[in-house]
Amino acid sequence: MAKTVYITRRETFAAAHRLFKMELSDEENFKLFGKCSNPNWHGHNYTLEVVVAGDVDNDTGFVMDLQELKEIVKTNIIEEVDHKNLNLETKFMKGMIPTSENIVLGIWDELKDKISKGKLYSVKLYETENNYFEYKGEL
Ligand code: NI
Repeated sequence: MAKTVYITRRETFAAAHRLFKMELSDEENFKLFGKCSNPNWHGHNYTLEVVVAGDVDNDTGFVMDLQELKEIVKTNIIEEVDHKNLNLETKFMKGMIPTSENIVLGIWDELKDKISKGKLYSVKLYETENNYFEYKGEL
């Protein structure tokens, strides 16, 4: 049996968004999305946790070099979202309503092929202290 170890990199970022459907009025959007549909945007302070699972390399004692995971998350995700407007500026969210559910899907797709050792196990996003959203790939 493989001895799988799970390693996590945590990052925080601040981003603006608006949840809305173009075909709905502001009132209808408010009914569907609540405060997050404010037509003049608003922001959240997000916390992201990226978990990689794998065997411990005998040579290094690592699953994967956490410094490398940090760089991968920073370059591909944080630079795309931090102090950005998720509706307008984040390439991997193009065409998606920027709910946290869709953000974890977008982040997963961005990262899944870039993990050099082990494999991407989970992407977890805290929108507030009390709400978080997690994707672990297709069941
Ligand atoms: Ni919001």
